[in-house]
Amino acid sequence: MKPREIRRGVYWAGAVDWDRRLFDSLIPLPDGTSYNSYLVQGGQSTALIDSVDPTMERVLLENLDSLEVKKLDYLIANHAEQDHAGAIPAVLAKYPEAKVVCTPRCKGMLIDLLMVAEDRFITVEDKETISLGDRTLEFIHAPWVHWPETMLTYLREERILFPCDFFGSHLATSDLYVTDEGQVYEAAKRYYAEIMMPFRTTIQKNLEKVKEYQIDMIAPSHGPVYNKPEFIIKAYHSWAFGEPKNIVVLPYVSMHDSTRRMVAYFVGALVERGITVKQFDLPVTDIGKLAMALVDAATVIIGTPTVLGGAHPAAAYAAFLANALRPNLKFASIIGSYGWGGKVVEQISGMLTNLKVEVLPPVLAKGYPREADFKALDGLAEMVRQKHRETGVM
Ligand code: FEO
Repeated sequence: MKPREIRRGVYWAGAVDWDRRLFDSLIPLPDGTSYNSYLVQGGQSTALIDSVDPTMERVLLENLDSLEVKKLDYLIANHAEQDHAGAIPAVLAKYPEAKVVCTPRCKGMLIDLLMVAEDRFITVEDKETISLGDRTLEFIHAPWVHWPETMLTYLREERILFPCDFFGSHLATSDLYVTDEGQVYEAAKRYYAEIMMPFRTTIQKNLEKVKEYQIDMIAPSHGPVYNKPEFIIKAYHSWAFGEPKNIVVLPYVSMHDSTRRMVAYFVGALVERGITVKQFDLPVTDIGKLAMALVDAATVIIGTPTVLGGAHPAAAYAAFLANALRPNLKFASIIGSYGWGGKVVEQISGMLTNLKVEVLPPVLAKGYPREADFKALDGLAEMVRQKHRETGVM
């Protein structure tokens, strides 16, 4: 896709990766992604904000050629991760006079990760500016969005915020701007859940920090540009500051139908009590959907059979993931089955140490669940309802 002008002399010059289906060998990309790079032409100098993934390096260089960029003064590196910084060495080779502008921490990381030469850097402090002549770039330090070195760039005269990953969405689209807010909301929420949620308190602080700026447009480094930025700012506020809702997330796995029968009964018992349930069969679950569900839920209940004395590996993975993503959960528990014994409860609850949750009494059935087990599931459902009521969740 050719470069496109988003304001006079400001161009989207990145690459759309329609076919990528996995990020970090971990995160599903059902809708592909984009690596957005932006060229800002000033009266005296020219800057490129972020580069692209190294697999798309050629696309970026061709875009710069088609924009007839003969001289590049600044290459702004908001973030050192390779999907934005990976093409920096190629851009520096093409433009020998260009300097990389980044935080001091980012400089060290780019030297380590990409072997960028030390003499190619200009480091900037929080709120420092660089003039392009008639245009001014302000750099806003925003560590831990989502690495320690991150910053945002603000083009003062045009009131455009270039926040790199912050507010981004993994979404390949031919639309330069958001046209379908529902689709972008889903993709941006998935991105928040997988990438930003573990840093929720930092995200809260950075949302407060960007309030100081008048923003007419947000141009992230993944997904379409927000020409009505209040849409994504409001969504981020609800995800980062919102209280947990009356929702139980129930990731489970079943081998011989015992756990599945328990899950089916338990879901019915919760729904009867006015609780929303989001159920995920782990072996076929898109973990992005599970992560998104955890953004709003008050409770997670993990369903697992017993394998070799412990939890099924798929259930252990779900517990590990929930613990790593640090959602704002209040309660957790375990339901499942066993043949002759095991340590499922100790194992799963021992994996949730990052979460400030109260672990409710688990329900485990020996073999197929019987009347007493269904009664115990009713008891757990009732306890979830009481806890949700007591804590104002419902
Ligand atoms: Fe899109 Fe953290 O890189």
